[in-house]
Amino acid sequence: MTTLRKQIDETLTFIRTKTTMQPSVGIILGTGLGGLVKEIQIETTIDYSEIPHFPISTVESHTGKLIFGTLGGKKVVAMQGRFHYYEGYTLQQVTFPVRVMKFLGVQILLISNAAGGMNPLFSKGDIMIMTDHINMLGDNPLIGPNDEELGPRFPDMSEPYTKELIALAEKIALEQKLRVQKGVYVVMTGPTMETKAEYRFLRWTGADAVGMSTVPEVIVAVHQSMKVLGFSIITDECFPDALKPVSLQEVIAVANAAEPKLTAIMKEVVTRL
Ligand code: HPA
Repeated sequence: MTTLRKQIDETLTFIRTKTTMQPSVGIILGTGLGGLVKEIQIETTIDYSEIPHFPISTVESHTGKLIFGTLGGKKVVAMQGRFHYYEGYTLQQVTFPVRVMKFLGVQILLISNAAGGMNPLFSKGDIMIMTDHINMLGDNPLIGPNDEELGPRFPDMSEPYTKELIALAEKIALEQKLRVQKGVYVVMTGPTMETKAEYRFLRWTGADAVGMSTVPEVIVAVHQSMKVLGFSIITDECFPDALKPVSLQEVIAVANAAEPKLTAIMKEVVTRL
C-alpha cells in the first residue's frame, strides 16, 4: 500500500469514529464564501486540527472545519476553509481532503474561490462559472509515483468542469434572475497579487479570471473521476491600464457582498443534482 493510501485510510478511520454519513456531494468554500454553511443542516463538525494528515489553515479568513450534513435533501461534506500553495504546503497536502472526500463517497465536487477579473466585460461582485483552467503554478499535485487504484498516470483534461453541471448552474442563475459570467480561471502561486504586466500577459493567455486556489483540487478530483462545478466571485478588477491597489479587506468585503447570490445558486444546484 502506498503512503498516500495509508494516510487516507488513517484519516477515514478517524472520521468514521465521528460520523457514518456517506456524502455524495463535496463542497469547498473559498475566501469570504462560508455562508453556504448556514444552509446546511449540520450533522457533524470536525476541526481540521483534529483530523490526522489534514494541514492546518493559516489564513485568518478561513476557519478550518469539515462539516457533514444535508443540503437540498442531499448528503454533503463541506470544507469551510481550504489550504493554499502559498501557505507553504505541498500540492499533495493541499489536495489531501479531496482524496478523502472520494473515499467518503463523494462523486460531485462543488468548489468556489475569490478571483481577480481580467475580462473587461466583468465587474466587481460578478459570479463566474468556471468553464476551464490554466495551471500556472509550475507544479502539479499528481507529480510523483501514481497509485493506479486512485486514478490514471496521465489523466484526461479535455473536460475538467462537467458540461451538464455548467448548464444546470446557468439555467438556475437565469431562473433566479442572477447575472453570471462564464470563463477560464488561471491559477498563480501568490501570495503577491499580479503586476500590470502579469495581468496583461495572463489575459493574453486566454484567462478571464486569476486566483490562487482551486486548480490543484480540481486536478485531483478529475484524477479520481469526480464531476466538478467551479465558481469564482470576481472581487477586484484587474485591468492593466486602469489598475488600482487592492487589499485583502476589500476582496473579503466584495466576496461577502456577492455571497448570497452564489449561495442561492449552489443550494439549488445541489437540490437538483
Ligand atoms: N490575483 C490573484 N488572486 C486573487 C486576485 C487577484 O487579483 N483577486 C482575488 N484573488
